[in-house]
Formats: sequence, structure tokens, C-alpha cells
Amino acid sequence: MLRKGMIDHTKIKTLVSIFKDAGVDEVISPTTHSRFQEIEETLPLESLPPQQKVLKEPPVAPLVSPKVASSSAQVSAKSAQTLEELRTSLLSFGGCSLKYTATNLVFGDGNSKARLMLIGEAPGADEDRQGLPFVGQSGQLLDRMFAAIGLTRQESFYISNIIPWRPPGNRQPTPAEADACLPFVRRHIDLISPDFLILVGGVAAKTLLGGRDGIMRVRGSWKDYTSEAGKKMKVMAIFHPAYLLRSPGQKREAWLDLIRIKHTLLDAGVELKNPL
Ligand code: URA
Repeated sequence: MLRKGMIDHTKIKTLVSIFKDAGVDEVISPTTHSRFQEIEETLPLESLPPQQKVLKEPPVAPLVSPKVASSSAQVSAKSAQTLEELRTSLLSFGGCSLKYTATNLVFGDGNSKARLMLIGEAPGADEDRQGLPFVGQSGQLLDRMFAAIGLTRQESFYISNIIPWRPPGNRQPTPAEADACLPFVRRHIDLISPDFLILVGGVAAKTLLGGRDGIMRVRGSWKDYTSEAGKKMKVMAIFHPAYLLRSPGQKREAWLDLIRIKHTLLDAGVELKNPL
């Protein structure tokens, strides 16, 4: 039996697991906040006329059918002529509900003039906080993998994701969410206009290559890809670094893929810095 003042660890564990299941998986403030109280304190309710005495609601995702989301994404993505315009289009796009639970838009990073573009799945907690792709543990592994073949993010590649907003609790994005964002990804590829495209993980591979085969089958071989604007490029899918962190036994296959990438890029005259 618990005496007054004692902590019930079982209850705390249950609460933490309820929060985790709901996607609340990190503490962002050392103190607790009453949001209702904060709203009341900031709104001078008594001074407002009765019809305006409504508390401000947090932004709620509008209900948008997949068809409407996709056609609005197509129009909005197509009209972007620069990376900055594409970022602005995404900021005002309402067809993907992940936007309403994310902290930041995670757009892209690296050298936008590079001949190599990498596309991952979706941001995690670190990326959501910083607004940059692949900056957490798996991103650091990805950077080390490419640095081993002489390619750095600063100089040799540009990197983005299929989904620019973090799915709550790092769940996998649904096909509907990927479809809603796809026109922006295709436009992103056209604006970078790389010669080589690397799809990092199964979600990026499935979304851009289609087909029924999973990452185990599609990874490691170059395929042809024609961009929306008609540019032909070489595309290869590789294992996601988060998967390699969970299954280090697959690092050998990942290394073989990197060697293939290195040889193809060398043959194409891409400069590599001290590759292994
Ligand atoms: N995993 C991804 O696929 N993308 C990121 O930006 C981070 C982790």
C-alpha cells in the first residue's frame, strides 16, 4: 500500500505508455503548463463583446478528400519556379494533416546545385525541432556512409524527404499522406534537377518507383527515372539508416550499394573527396 507522499511508479509507467501510444514521446518543457489558463490570461475576455467571447482554438487540420488534396498539391507545386517558392507553397498547403501536429516544415538541406539528390521518408523528432532533414541519429549515420565514399552534404548532395512534416510518434506515413505530398516531391526533384537520385528506404522507393516489390528486392541497382519535366536520371534505392541501426547485419549490403554508387558517380565525372 502506498503511504501519503509516495510515488506510484506503476501508475507513472502506465501514463507514460499512454502518452507514447498517442505520439507524445518527448518532453519539451521542464515545467507543466495549463494551456487553458494561458489562453484565458492572454485574452481580455471581459473587454470583448459577447459574440467574440470565444477562446482561440489550436489550428485543426481541415478535412480534405485525397482527390482534392492531390489536385490542389499539383496546382500549387507546379506554380513554384524556385525552391523558395516551393517552400512557400508547402507552407500554405492544407492537404496533409501532418502539418498540424508538426513543429516545423522540414524542406531540404545540402548543395542545391549538386548532381546527386537523396530522398528519405519523413522527419523524426530532431528534424521536426530543427526544421532540417536527417539531423538525428540516422541522419548522422547517413552522412558518415556517404562521406566514406567521398560525398558530403555541404558539397556533393542535396537531401529532402517524401513527407516534409513529422508523423506523430514517428509512425510510418500512410500512402494517402505520401500521395498528397508527391506533387511537391516531384517538383522538388525538377528544381534540383540532379543526374542521380538515391531513394533512402522503402517508403521513398515505393512512392517514387511504384511497383509491388519491397526495399529488399529493389535496393542496390540503378534504374531509369524520368522527371515530371522530362529529364532522364539514374535512380537507386538503398536501405534506410534507421533500419541499419536496428539491423547492423545488413550493413554489408548497404556498403555494396555505396560502392556501386561511388563507381557510377566516378564514371560520370563527379568529384569525390578522399573516398575509401
Ligand atoms: N528519417 C527520414 O527518413 N528523414 C529524416 O529527415 C530523418 C529521419
